[in-house]
Amino acid sequence: MNANAASRHLRVAFEAAALIARNLRRTRGFATVPLRHHDGYRLCAMRRPHLPGALALYAELHDGQPLDLPRRWLYRLAGNRLGVVALDINGRVVGAAFYGFSRRDLREDRVHSSFSGVHPAHRGRGLATELRRTAILHFRANGVRGYSSRISADNVASLKPSLRLGFHIAERYQDPVSGEQRYYLVCDFDDDYRDDTTQGREPQPPTPETERKAVP
Ligand SMILES: CC(C)(COP(=O)(O)OP(=O)(O)OC[C@H]1O[C@@H](n2cnc3c(N)ncnc32)[C@H](O)[C@@H]1OP(=O)(O)O)[C@@H](O)C(=O)NCCC(=O)NCCS
Repeated sequence: MNANAASRHLRVAFEAAALIARNLRRTRGFATVPLRHHDGYRLCAMRRPHLPGALALYAELHDGQPLDLPRRWLYRLAGNRLGVVALDINGRVVGAAFYGFSRRDLREDRVHSSFSGVHPAHRGRGLATELRRTAILHFRANGVRGYSSRISADNVASLKPSLRLGFHIAERYQDPVSGEQRYYLVCDFDDDYRDDTTQGREPQPPTPETERKAVP
């Protein structure tokens, strides 16, 4: 192994350890994600027995690509505080949402959604909305100020539940790798979160208000 490769491996290992340490530190003392019910599904913490199902769903929705190793370890150690799953009546994982704190999130006192997905057979029943709502209630109860996520501009199925819950578009940008148009969305719980989503369910298209810059 040459010196460049060795230093690259060292940097990757350092970043992985920093990610795990940062998240374990930030969630120390957090309660477990609460149990909620929606339309015959259970929404609950991503405990160890749920992890294989959550990781399998992640891989299925990423063309077979598994979640990276540091995050697999993170959710093994702290999935009950940083992950939410949706279970069907047989206890199978049919939806999963993975959260974490980047350095930016720590500065801005927000938690970031790394990924949320619902099995195709269970879509359109509000599960993504309720996975996100469960996370909002959990992180708010544990003293976090808000929640951020990155969503492609053409991913209507993901934008809709977020806008419905009160997220606004804080930044628009072009993904440097894929070239896609993407949004950085923010929901600050005290100011933005809407729990009156059973009425007037249609989220509004982006407006200057939904696009206002998030002031940390
Ligand atoms: C995005 C995703 C999580 C949504 O899950 P879901 O459980 O179906 O979401 P919900 O039912 O809470 O809300 C989806 C809404 O979008 C609507 N929708 C879905 N596809 C749509 C489309 N192509 N055009 C317009 N609306 C659409 C649904 O009808 C629903 O709205 P409604 O409640 O007003 O009927 C799911 O589609 C998924 O796993 N996609 C692949 C992974 C992904 O893109 N994850 C997000 C990464 S940021």
